[in-house]
Amino acid sequence: MAEPKVNELMEKIVSLCKRRGFVYQSSEIYGGINGFWDYGPLGAELKRNVKELWWRRIVHEREDVAGLEATIIMAPQIWKASGHVDTFSDPMIDCKTCKGRFRADQLNETPCPQKPSKMVSECHGEKTEPRAFNLMFETHVGPVKDDSSIAYLRPETAQAIFAQFKNVLETSRQRVPFGIAQTGKAFRNEVTPRNFTFRSREFEQMELEFFIKPDEVVEAITGTVATPAGPGHPGEPQPNWGWQMWHQYWVEERIRFYEGIGLPRASLEEYWQKPEELAHYARACVDILFKFPFGTQELEGIAARSDFDLSQHQRFSGKAMTVFDEELKAAWARLPKEKQDELWRRYCEARQRYLLKMGEEPEKAAALARADADGLAKGWYIPHVIEPSAGVDRLILALITNAFSEVTETDAKGRNETRVIMRFHPRVAPTKVGVFPLLKNKPELVKKALEVRDLLRPWMTVFYDEGGSIGRRYARQDEAGTPFGVTIDFDTLGEKPELRDTVTVRHRDDGHQERLAIKDLVGWLLERVR
Ligand code: GAP
Repeated sequence: MAEPKVNELMEKIVSLCKRRGFVYQSSEIYGGINGFWDYGPLGAELKRNVKELWWRRIVHEREDVAGLEATIIMAPQIWKASGHVDTFSDPMIDCKTCKGRFRADQLNETPCPQKPSKMVSECHGEKTEPRAFNLMFETHVGPVKDDSSIAYLRPETAQAIFAQFKNVLETSRQRVPFGIAQTGKAFRNEVTPRNFTFRSREFEQMELEFFIKPDEVVEAITGTVATPAGPGHPGEPQPNWGWQMWHQYWVEERIRFYEGIGLPRASLEEYWQKPEELAHYARACVDILFKFPFGTQELEGIAARSDFDLSQHQRFSGKAMTVFDEELKAAWARLPKEKQDELWRRYCEARQRYLLKMGEEPEKAAALARADADGLAKGWYIPHVIEPSAGVDRLILALITNAFSEVTETDAKGRNETRVIMRFHPRVAPTKVGVFPLLKNKPELVKKALEVRDLLRPWMTVFYDEGGSIGRRYARQDEAGTPFGVTIDFDTLGEKPELRDTVTVRHRDDGHQERLAIKDLVGWLLERVR
């Protein structure tokens, strides 16, 4: 089941992940199951930290985003409306010689199972023509297994947000522009899962659908549509922002997020998809790429998806996805006739283009588009959306590969020893602080150390360790990525009276130590780990 090792660094990382309990192969005792991974004790903490930070930044620290937690299995019509039933597929070929099944667009990068030194594209196995392979996992709901009971494990969390758009709008008292955020599992029956957890069959996403006014509505209300003046963060959102400003805003916000959890700017790249690469409904899509050891690859996609998704659900469900905007209604009435006509025409044309692409009869498309454009005068429109969509597991892998470093030290006997330090940013580090009594056979030291552990526990993850030399204990925590180590020694107990109730705090990355009063410890640590 194990995939071929990509390079030596990845081998070291995969082995550390297993040895220290970051990531294990799912069902390992049965030989594993390809494309599925479990997170061990340290990995589980790392993942929780990442998801909690995302939620805090995207939902709690903003006025304009509300959260959602929807089910994994939803009405199958959702996936018909979204296009997943018909088009969510990879081109796949079969090899008649080795019976392997491969992604047709990855033959140059996929080793032949029979001759691993050769790629599938070069080996002499007889191949079938490429054909579409739908990536959704199917299941059946209820006791009868027939076509009417087919349902799907969601391949993305996004669609639930669109399907619940009206409910959230009504219950959250938000008004466009506003967003709905969701984190959770997604499932894709990837043809060739690979690169450790990078492409898995079960993974987690953190998705935001940020709903904005169409440019015609912005222009009707504010008289202008602001577009980006150049690269960089465009600053605080403004009422005259068009979709391009919002798109750039979210790209920059997301890059700030990654920098804030320790991924250096130089390890990230923005990739602006070319027009021919864009999904048919997307106006623009920026991939945020990370320099993984196996290549520079996508961490997150930020797409400007127009009003495609809400429009699809409106057509398929028969439920209106329009919003009423009092400001638009009032502004429209004040517009000169020529401006009304121009905005009406632009909106109508965009709606008609969408409806024709979706296969509506030309006459019906024209009539529906006219009705939609007539709605503007009464204050009605379907919101557009900007979608920052991130993968939790890919981010965990990025954080692990970025944190991994080896140091070689010479011990007292002159022997070289290479050990690993996981340099996680304190905000994501699985354990925030290690607490160590200098010696375990001195009950007063142990008692005091346990008091310090209990003092810190309500605030952060603490690992108490009294086994082995203090150097060994530091090294174990360095390998787990714990940023701070607190040692309780005889000075803590008052051997030097002026140092009573102080501890040494050791910094993981450079090993330097400082002395702090126990009463200041919680505040000092919280400032660094939050
Ligand atoms: N709603 C949009 C959407 O799902 P996507 O680019 O297909 O877009 C978004 O997926 C993110 O989800 C990706 O950038 C990636 O981080 C993560 N992702 C997608 N497929 C994945 C897989 N098979 N394994 C791990 N992560 C995956």
